[in-house]
Amino acid sequence: MSKNILNTIIHGDCLKVLKNIPNNFVDMSFADPPFNLKKKYNHYEDSKEKRDYLNWCNEWLNEIVRITKPTGAIFVHNIPRWLSYYSECLNKIAFFKHWIAWDSGGAPLGKTLLPNHYGILYYTKSTSHKDFKFFDIRQPHPKCRVCGEFLKDYGGKKAQAHKFGPLLSDVWNDIHRIRHKNRRDEHPCQLPIPLLERLILMTTDAGDIVFDPFMGTGTTAVAAKRLGRKYIGIEQDLDYVKIANKNIEAAKETKINECFVSIYLNRIRTMRDSDFKKIYETPKNQNHIELKAG
Ligand SMILES: C[S@@+](CC[C@H](N)C(=O)[O-])C[C@H]1O[C@@H](n2cnc3c(N)ncnc32)[C@H](O)[C@@H]1O
Repeated sequence: MSKNILNTIIHGDCLKVLKNIPNNFVDMSFADPPFNLKKKYNHYEDSKEKRDYLNWCNEWLNEIVRITKPTGAIFVHNIPRWLSYYSECLNKIAFFKHWIAWDSGGAPLGKTLLPNHYGILYYTKSTSHKDFKFFDIRQPHPKCRVCGEFLKDYGGKKAQAHKFGPLLSDVWNDIHRIRHKNRRDEHPCQLPIPLLERLILMTTDAGDIVFDPFMGTGTTAVAAKRLGRKYIGIEQDLDYVKIANKNIEAAKETKINECFVSIYLNRIRTMRDSDFKKIYETPKNQNHIELKAG
């Protein structure tokens, strides 16, 4: 089975499909499960009893760790409430690296504090830095839209700031949810491609296998393809599988001077620190992408 599932979205229940995937098979696992918040999916009923939901999550969490290689990374995206339970499970079978706070840009609702970040738990299967893949990543400097000046003062050392942007921290506020209807599919919680591209560039090499058990309309697979990685996805809703396959077919590699980079609306959103010189110092640009500054 293993070879046939490369670069496919498998239509089915992730727990059943996962049982047939061998141990240590994929380089990175990313899971964005239903949040149990009564969202309107086509078929999935998004309101389980708390214990049932958490037991179900523990089952697939164990499975995604099992199929990830010892050099690999495991990411799980959810609201903080559920991630606090996921950690209980993951701490027994993998190694905690980071809680990435993704501030996706919400609007205050009143009555409570605005829950303004999603969490992405980052775990590895090996504990030592020399045994798992991790690549330093840079994001563009946050700049004023009007005058183009840096928004941060970098402790008064702006002049010494990196030409492209700082190394990434664990708080991400430069990637927004897809706001415009014409840029999104008929899915209640489609993630933005640059979010997945950042995680992929941070933890995998070109040619590696990226896995997602809740593929939705294909964000993870599209990001993997654009960055020259392979993918395996599972999705139980056939309509979403069809949309995902269309999106994947339309996706093209995004490369500048032989380096894979995350590009959105003509701007580089994420690059590897080790690629910076090559991207900026040689003029060739395979895709003829017109890049705007930062
Ligand atoms: C939060 S959404 C994922 C969205 C996805 N990250 C994207 O950007 O399109 C969760 C998805 O999991 C699917 N799903 C729910 N239960 C599933 C299961 N047991 N096996 C496979 N897919 C499932 C739902 O149909 C839904 O599309």
